[in-house]
Amino acid sequence: MTGRLEGKVAIITGAARGQGEAEARHAVAEGASVLLTDVLDAEGEAVAADLGAAAAYRHLDVTSEEEWIAAVADAEERFGPVTVLVNNAGILDFGSIEYQDVEKFRRVIDVNLMGTMIGMKSVTPSMRRAGGGSIINISSNGGIMGLPALGAYVSSKWAVRGLSKTAAMDLGKRGIRVNSLHPGGVDTPMTRLPGQEPNETLFAKSLPMGRFGHVDEIAKVVTFLASDEASYVTGAEWSVDGGATAGDRSLLG
Ligand SMILES: NC(=O)c1ccc[n+]([C@@H]2O[C@H](COP(=O)([O-])OP(=O)(O)OC[C@H]3O[C@@H](n4cnc5c(N)ncnc54)[C@H](O)[C@@H]3O)[C@@H](O)[C@H]2O)c1
Repeated sequence: MTGRLEGKVAIITGAARGQGEAEARHAVAEGASVLLTDVLDAEGEAVAADLGAAAAYRHLDVTSEEEWIAAVADAEERFGPVTVLVNNAGILDFGSIEYQDVEKFRRVIDVNLMGTMIGMKSVTPSMRRAGGGSIINISSNGGIMGLPALGAYVSSKWAVRGLSKTAAMDLGKRGIRVNSLHPGGVDTPMTRLPGQEPNETLFAKSLPMGRFGHVDEIAKVVTFLASDEASYVTGAEWSVDGGATAGDRSLLG
């Protein structure tokens, strides 16, 4: 590792497992101090303990503004003003629009969109104290295209993409960069179906790269966007999806 995040203070949501865990591991390896947050406390505590003194864990339900304010204060007290925020926490709910349960739809919007919005709002005063920062909002390939039976998820992820661009415009002069990252087909607990090898699924085979992505392949792009190497990169969308949004590969059979 090259110390690309030396001196950075990061908050990562949904960091107890999956992509968030990998993002936290990469950030610490690159020199950052990281407050890992999630609602899966035992798993989150274990990851933070494994990462040592540069990491700590705190319970944070991203839908609660009160918990966000406390988490930012905690990160600042432990490590100093926050300079990196990764809004990674997210949930899915499957259902065709015909049968969609309204409260479940609302819940997905609440976690994926409202959680991201409250996170950006809560961290901004700390980033201003630091003189700037980088916010990475984890959207999805479903924030660029439609996905069947995923209306709530897709709506939330398109909204995260739009909100990221607006926040980039609102915060650019504060020295705060905001980008959206659009993973697709990454092997995590969210995408694992019982009894199925990810790369044997129809979905994986339909991808231009013909395979699921690894969490490290997402974390490396997050690290770049968090680092000063991306100092002129804001308001942009970063697809890391094995080509899922490149086009329809089935056209030639
Ligand atoms: N895996 C993929 O193929 C894929 C594709 C596109 C986008 N994404 C996005 O990437 C992000 C990470 O997903 P993942 O694949 O690692 O899935 P995951 O289910 O392993 O991780 C999501 C994490 O978010 C946490 N979380 C859920 N609700 C929360 C809440 N209210 N407050 C705080 N934390 C909460 C979960 O406990 C979990 O640890 C999500 O935003 C997801 O939508 C994933």
